[in-house]
Amino acid sequence: MTTPRPRVLSGVQPTGALHLGNWLGAIRNWVELQDSHDTFFCVVDLHAITVPHDPARLAEDTLTTAALYLACGIDPQRSTVFVQSQVSAHSELCWLLNCVTPLNWLERMIQFKEKALKQGADVSTGLLDYPVLMAADILLYDADLVPVGEDQKQHLELARDIAQQRINARFGSNGADGERLPLLKVPEPLILREGARVMSLTDGSSKMSKSDPNEGSRITLLDPPDLITKKIKRAKTDPVMGLEFGNPERPEADNLLSLYALLSGRSRESAASECASMGWGAFKPLLAEATVEALRPMQQSYADLRHDPATLLAVLAEGRERARMVADETLQRVRQALGFLQPSGPDA
Ligand code: TYM
Repeated sequence: MTTPRPRVLSGVQPTGALHLGNWLGAIRNWVELQDSHDTFFCVVDLHAITVPHDPARLAEDTLTTAALYLACGIDPQRSTVFVQSQVSAHSELCWLLNCVTPLNWLERMIQFKEKALKQGADVSTGLLDYPVLMAADILLYDADLVPVGEDQKQHLELARDIAQQRINARFGSNGADGERLPLLKVPEPLILREGARVMSLTDGSSKMSKSDPNEGSRITLLDPPDLITKKIKRAKTDPVMGLEFGNPERPEADNLLSLYALLSGRSRESAASECASMGWGAFKPLLAEATVEALRPMQQSYADLRHDPATLLAVLAEGRERARMVADETLQRVRQALGFLQPSGPDA
């Protein structure tokens, strides 16, 4: 008998166009895992409504995000690609986990505090609960590994704590020789050093983010070449000559040089030596060209996929079936352990 491959689950919210941070911090790493792992990638549309959203855009943005997954190299033959809201076990497990998660664990979450500050009195219960839904996403698939960017580290720790301390410790069963049998797999984060924290083009000390009102702060995966060039041209610089890594006084130099290394496929050493005495005026066109070239194949393949919605919908329909089989089985296990009455009758 062959041992099953370790399981991977991750997702991106379909809120506006995905940017270089989402790609370099997350999706790029998913692609590599497909050969060695059993991979599940969802478009987390339920997370997208935790802040005010436009109902006229949600479905389209969900399809766009799924198409971007495929265009970036996610292969539906090897990976299960699906839409979170189409697998109802996500919402149901979220409720069960809500009831064992202490409120103060959620109030400590940095992302909640940051986003809540921006929204003032209007902040929703969903935003507070966001990490519990994320824990449900992961725990439903018994994921071993969750590849994400640096900003998700705290949410991953919460998912681990919920699984370990609140579910397994309380509802796990005792094995034949008395050891505790876990009910849910405790996942590990996978955060690669390079690309895990891509910073804003207009402020090297804050994260590149979909919610920054300044579009010039990010490069989206669908920006055309002239817009990419324009955004890079306007990116914040400093008065020092030469690009370098790791100088805390020069966050923009570190960020743009890191992007150059990643997007041109050079090692950090070779990018650093190539640009060590280069002025910003020479460096920026180089970075723009590397960015345009790195995104070109993905943009081409995205355009083809978006012209063929039937194929995309078929991928998501198949993904949904595969995801449901796994998720429903886990949900059933948790329902049973929590002591719910099993349904009976002809439809049960
Ligand atoms: P989202 O949509 O905000 O981000 C998606 C992924 O992109 C990474 N990321 C970044 N990486 C590097 N630099 C950046 N500037 C940057 N900005 C974003 C995020 O770390 C993330 O990996 N809560 C998740 C979505 C989610 C999820 C899950 C992830 C819901 N359920 C289950 C994994 C497993 C999020 O932040 O989405």
